[in-house]
Amino acid sequence: MEIRVSTRDVQQFDGDALAVGIFSDKGPLHGPAAALDEALAGVIAELRASGEVTGAADEVTLLHTLGKIEPSRVAIIGLGPRDRCTLERIRRASAIACRRLRKVKARRVGLALASAERSINLAQAARAMTEGALLGLYEFGQYKSAKSGAAASDDESADSGCSIQEITILGRGREPALRTAVERGKVLAEATNFARDLGNEPPNVLTPTEFGERARRMAEEAGLECEVYGPDWMREQGMGALLGVAQGSAEEPRFIVLRYRGRARGEPGLALVGKGITFDTGGISLKPGAEMDAMKMDMCGGAAVVGAMMAIAQLKPNTNVTGIVPTTENMPGGKAYRPGDILRAANGKTIEILNTDAEGRLALADALSWAVKQRLSPLVDAATLTGAMVVALGHVRAGIFSNNEALERAILTASDTAGERLWPMPMDDEYGDLIRSEIADMKQVGGRPAGSISAAKVISNFVGETPWAHLDIAGVNSRHNKDAELDKGATGFGVRTFVELATLLAASGRNGKGNTNGNAS
Ligand code: BES
Ligand code: ZN
Ligand code: ZN
Repeated sequence: MEIRVSTRDVQQFDGDALAVGIFSDKGPLHGPAAALDEALAGVIAELRASGEVTGAADEVTLLHTLGKIEPSRVAIIGLGPRDRCTLERIRRASAIACRRLRKVKARRVGLALASAERSINLAQAARAMTEGALLGLYEFGQYKSAKSGAAASDDESADSGCSIQEITILGRGREPALRTAVERGKVLAEATNFARDLGNEPPNVLTPTEFGERARRMAEEAGLECEVYGPDWMREQGMGALLGVAQGSAEEPRFIVLRYRGRARGEPGLALVGKGITFDTGGISLKPGAEMDAMKMDMCGGAAVVGAMMAIAQLKPNTNVTGIVPTTENMPGGKAYRPGDILRAANGKTIEILNTDAEGRLALADALSWAVKQRLSPLVDAATLTGAMVVALGHVRAGIFSNNEALERAILTASDTAGERLWPMPMDDEYGDLIRSEIADMKQVGGRPAGSISAAKVISNFVGETPWAHLDIAGVNSRHNKDAELDKGATGFGVRTFVELATLLAASGRNGKGNTNGNAS
C-alpha cells in the first residue's frame, strides 16, 4: 500500500474517491468540507439542512460527484462534536472511510478528515489517518481460497484486485512535518498488523518453533539481533516453570530474544516481555470446549513484543531495547505438569501448582528472572493473563500493574500517545496474602477474589527491585465481531504503547535509570 501526502486543496485531488470529515455542530461548514461543498454546488450543505447528514460520529454518506470533480465518489464521514474531536476519532473515521470505499472498489483514495482545529495537531492528525487506514483495511485472508463471480459480490474482501492501492493524506501545514508523521503512522500500523497476523494464525501453523522462525525472519529483515533458544538451553538456565508448562506438549518450547541497540554504550535498557502460549488448552485443568479456539491468541503479548521490535528497528530511538518471548503450548499430554506439582523458576523460587490453566505467569516467571539476570531495566510485560481481567475491564481497556509509579506514569503517557487505553490496577501488599503457600515460596493462584491482581503478585516475585510493569491484555487482544472500524480477530494491542514507551525513554534519557528507579518524582 502506498501512502502519499499532499497539501493541495481537496478540489484538486485526482484519485477516484475522496473522504471528508464533518462535525455535528450547527453552523457553516469548515475546512475541506466547505471547499468540497463549493465544488459540488452546495450538496453537502443541503444534505445537512435536510437532516440527512448530521455529522454524528461514525456516520457515513456516499455521494456520486457526477463529473463535478475528478473523484467519482465522496464519502462524508461524521466526526461528532467539534470540541470533542480527538485523534482517536480521526483514526476511527479514517478506518471507517477506507473500509466503506473499499466496498465500492475505490483504488486511489484521498483522506481529508481533519481541518485546523485548536485541539488537534495537524501532523498528529495525519498520522492518525494513516494508522486508521492501514489498521482498518487489514484483513487476515491467506487461508480463504479466491472466490469468483456472484459468490464474491457480498464479500468486499474476497476479490483483492479491487482493494485500495494508494492513499493520499490531504493535510494542511508544513509538508515535511506531515511526511514524518505519516511515515511514523505507517511503521506503527504495519508493525501492529504484523502482530495481528501472528495472533490470527491457526495454532497448528504458529507453533512455538514457527513463532521463533517468524521472529528470526523479521529480525533479519529489520536488522535486529535475534536468538531463539530451545529446551536444552532452558534447562541450563534452570527455567523449571516454563519447562513445566511445556512438558505436556509434543511441540518443543522456544525462548525468543530480539535485541535493538540504539546506544553503543550505556545501560542494557528496556526489556519488553510477552506471554507466548501458542495454544492454551488449560492443560490437565482442561478448559471447557466452548470458544477454546480463541486460545490460539494466547500468544498476543509475545506478538506485541515482536511487532514493537519491528517498529523500533525502523524508528531507531536512542535507547537499547530487548524483546523477550517465552513460547510454548499448554497441553494435557501424558507428561503434562499437574496440580500439586512444585516447580522451581530460574531465580530459584518455588511455585506450588494448583491449576495448570494458570500457565502464563509461569512462562513469565522464567522470562522475567532471565531479564533481571541480564540487568535489563525497566521491565514491561504484556500477557493475555487472566479471565478476571476481562470481567474487570471488559474489552475496552487493559489493566496496568506496576511496582514503580514513575514507570507506570510513563507507560500511561505512552499509551495515550499510542491510542491504546490502559487502566491502573492496585498492588497493595495485602493482595500478596492471596498467594501464600504452606509448602513452597508461593502458590501459583490466589482463588477467585482479585484474580488479575494475585496473578500480577505472582509475577512480581520474579522482578526483584527492578522497575516493572505488567499489562494484562486478556480483554483487548482480540475483537469478537467485525465492525465499521476493524475486522474481528487479533488487535495487535500493545505494539504502539511499547514503541511510544521506548521513544519516551530515549527522549528523557532514562534508559531504566533516573526517575524510574523506584522514587516517584
Ligand atoms: N489464557 C488464559 C486467560 C484468558 C482468558 C485470556 C480469557 C484471554 C481470554 C489464562 O492462561 C488462564 O486460563 N487463566 C486462568 C487462571 C485461573 C486458572 C487462576 C483464568 O483466568 O481463568
Ligand atoms: Zn491458561
Ligand atoms: Zn493462557
